[in-house]
Parts: sequence; structure tokens; C-alpha cells
Amino acid sequence: MVSLVSVKNITRNNKSLKIEWKDGKKSIFHYMWLRDNCPSGIHPTARQRIFNFLTVSENIHPISFTIKKDKKLEIVWSEQDHKSIYDLFWLRKNCYTIKNTKKYKSPYVFWNKNLIKDFKKVTINYDEIISGDKGLTKWLEQLHIYGFSLVKKAPTKKNSAFKILNKISHIRETFFGTPFEVVNIPNPNNTAYTASGLRNHTDLPYYEYSPGYQFLHCLINKAKGGLSSAVDGFSVANYLKKNEPEVFKILTSIYVKFKDNDYTQNTIRIFHSPLITLDKDKDYNDIRFSIATMAAMDCNPKVMEKFYSAYRRFAFLLHNKRFTINFRLEAGDIFSFNNRRILHGRTEFNPNSGHRHLQGYYIDRDDILARLNFLKKIKV
Ligand code: OGA
Ligand code: ZN
Repeated sequence: MVSLVSVKNITRNNKSLKIEWKDGKKSIFHYMWLRDNCPSGIHPTARQRIFNFLTVSENIHPISFTIKKDKKLEIVWSEQDHKSIYDLFWLRKNCYTIKNTKKYKSPYVFWNKNLIKDFKKVTINYDEIISGDKGLTKWLEQLHIYGFSLVKKAPTKKNSAFKILNKISHIRETFFGTPFEVVNIPNPNNTAYTASGLRNHTDLPYYEYSPGYQFLHCLINKAKGGLSSAVDGFSVANYLKKNEPEVFKILTSIYVKFKDNDYTQNTIRIFHSPLITLDKDKDYNDIRFSIATMAAMDCNPKVMEKFYSAYRRFAFLLHNKRFTINFRLEAGDIFSFNNRRILHGRTEFNPNSGHRHLQGYYIDRDDILARLNFLKKIKV
């Protein structure tokens, strides 16, 4: 890295400085960008910008620029009698010329039914997470990369999952409460609170900001049935993108309607979104899929038939053996997953054959990633 930040040559033009580095890479830094990112304009503890870029004109330019021995670039500006000193490491790290020549690399590893053979990669013991940042980082990486992690040997006392979850962050509240109690009850306000099977789904897609991660902590599972399933929605979406682009196009462009108006709420929640959304790099952003909470579709009649056909194809693949893993939750397991990527489900269970009780929690996706960035000392 030291040699990387050695400057071979530095030249100027009308709007920018051009740095040629010793390793042959080239960077362009626009004057406005440089002035806006002068380290003196950043608050030392808040690490926020205090400089107001409207106090200089768009014609701002260097009167002089010098590379100093201690790997610094010094610029004296044409306005405000200001001198900026930049660390060359920082400039190289934040060089938007080099960054934009690199091909985007997805952090996600897509998986299918074969994950079960590699289950170690997505399993971790509770004690490992509790005992230090190394274990916590490993857990968060499993969640970020695979979207799925099974925590084993956690305590089975009610509400005891708070301890491990608070090592990540605060909890995302919803109207189901925290934790939400996944038990078979009369007059449920969610089909999860029955003994019926649940088709693979993501939770709460009727929220504009659907909960990012879900943690189902198994306290007791003595009932017959109630086998869990998980499927990587990104992996299925990617299969469609490669093999059935027409279906993929419909799933990423037609807005579907989700709703919650259960009898316990004095709210009516409605949210429209495509079933698959993409991010700025055209990577997968999220999957929303829940047959149970889908409202009556209200798309243009011209595309209704096409929509249903693509929706059926997606639903079929999301329940296909080839993509799905099945496992039985044991007392002390915490089934943890990216709720905006991984679909989960369960088979029907017999409530008269034994007790089954899970406690559920949500944490926003932001908070998982932000904590992982911090533990990995990501530079910004
Ligand atoms: C849920 C759910 C699965 C289960 O509570 O959202 O899907 O195994 N539960 O009971
Ligand atoms: Zn669910």
C-alpha cells in the first residue's frame, strides 16, 4: 500500500488535478470535490461536514499544489485564503476514477438445497457469539453473505435472546410486539399463530420498510410436525434472470399490493412493490413474497395474465426442492435470516402432540450491516 500511494506525476487542467501513481493507476480529482472534502471541514468527533460548499464558487481552483514528503498533498485555493492538506492514502482510497473502473462484486453467495451439506458454514454456537467480537463478526458475516445462520445451544428462557441481539443493535419494533410469540392461539391475528403449515414467505411485506432480519428463537418444539424450511430468494431470482428473462422482467417491474387489516389493529396497511427489487449496482435489493398477505392485485388489466403467470412461476420455484432446505428447530436454536432475501416456512404441526413455542424478533438490515462495517473497521 505504501508504494501505491507514491505519486509519480501530478498535473492540472481546468477543473481537476490528475495524479499518476507509481503503480501506473491514474486518478482525477475535481477541484470542487477536493475543496468539499478538505479535512479541515470535517468535525473531529461527529465526523460530519461543517464546511458549506455554497460559500465558494464553482470556479474555485488551486493557486498552488504540492506533494509533501509525509505523503500529503497541499493545495492553496483561489478563494477564502484557504489551504487544504490531504492524506494521500485517503485520496487513493477514495479515488472515484479507480473505483468506477472496477467491476461490481456482489457480497452475496447464492445457495440452494446443497447448503444442507455445507451447514457448518451457516451454523454457530451461542457461546461463540457471546464470548467476543470474533464470534459476533462471524455470525454477522454468515447473515450478510448467506442471509441465513442457525445459532445453536442458546438458552431457552423466555426473552433470553435479547442478550445476543443487543450485541448487534436495538430491536425493530412492529405491531406484533417484541418478542412476538409464535404459538398456536385461538382467534389469531396472523396465520403463524396457528398450527397450520406456512408456505415460504417473507414477513410483513406490507411495511414500506419490511423488517430486515428475523430471529426465531425456539424455546420448545415437542409437537409432531412443524418442520422449518428456508429458500434463498436471491438465488431463485438469479436463476430466473439467467434462464427466464421475461419472467424476471415482470417480477422486477409490476407492482403488487400487500396489506394488513387484521381484526386486532386500528390501522389498514397497504404497500405496493415489485416482488423483486434491485439496488444501484443492479444487485438484488429485496424479495417480498407472501401469498398470505398479498391483497387483491390491482395492476393494469393488460398485464394481469402475464403477471399471474410470472408470479406462479416464482411461487413454484420458491417451493421447489432444488432450492429449499428443510430442518427441524430444536430448543435453543435461533433461526436467523435476512427477511428481505430468505423466505421461511413450516409444515403443519399437531398441537395436541406436544408444545411448540418460538419467540420472534426483528432487527433492521441497516443495523446488521453497520455493526459488521464497524467490526471490520471499514474506512469511509
Ligand atoms: C413467523 C413464522 C415460522 C414457524 O412467525 O413469521 O413464519 O416456524 N413462523 O413457526
Ligand atoms: Zn414468518
